[in-house]
Amino acid sequence: SLQVLTAVRHERAAFPLPSEIADGAADSDPSVPAEPGPGEGVAEPVDCAQAKCVALTLDDGPVPGTATVLDLFAKEKVRATFFVLGRNAKAHSKLIRRMIAEGHLVGNHSWSHPEFWKTSKAKIRKQLVRTDRLLAALGARPTLMRPPYGEWDARVAAVTRSLDLAAILWSVDPVDWRSRNTKKVVKQVLRQVKRGSIILTHDSLKPTRKAYPAIIKGLRAKGYTLVTVTELLDGNLRAGKRYFRA
Ligand code: NI
Repeated sequence: SLQVLTAVRHERAAFPLPSEIADGAADSDPSVPAEPGPGEGVAEPVDCAQAKCVALTLDDGPVPGTATVLDLFAKEKVRATFFVLGRNAKAHSKLIRRMIAEGHLVGNHSWSHPEFWKTSKAKIRKQLVRTDRLLAALGARPTLMRPPYGEWDARVAAVTRSLDLAAILWSVDPVDWRSRNTKKVVKQVLRQVKRGSIILTHDSLKPTRKAYPAIIKGLRAKGYTLVTVTELLDGNLRAGKRYFRA
């Protein structure tokens, strides 16, 4: 059963459980269902109790340039987590199908990236539901979400919980949207990264897309293994909670 599997995973984990930020939500929420296994022939399953795992996350796509990123990941046998916008997923549904087929994880980053702090609870819900439905229709019903701009409050937590989604923030931020500079993005990622890091990047930005080869090479040179967020957090994800790994 899932419970038994979870218990085994807990025993196996050599590092502490993911940090959770208290948001006033009850602790008795049902667990987010485990993700299906990765696609075949991409990368071998990884035991993060043994390996120095980090999760590379890519936001705001897919855009046409995301195809070149997928090419790179396939060549390098890298699995990553894409927090996609519903409107972009609709426009580039082939790229979503490709992400799934190639073993990546697809998360919900809202439909059109509104600022949640000035969005009503009903509209926040609509943004997430619409994206969930589209991704489900494409074969990737999400278990993870990332709020636009990382905005998190009681309303976002309540909606996220009610949709059975766990919220994934980050612990490494190269601030690529500000620098838009490939070398700086690489340098910042490699400077900040630690075991268990969740790395925030944007595949919507061309300078960042050009940084991925050096990011992968640099992380591997430091002994890191790239995994999806679900693999990194070892299945210990709960709806309505938000997660970092330091
Ligand atoms: Ni974003």
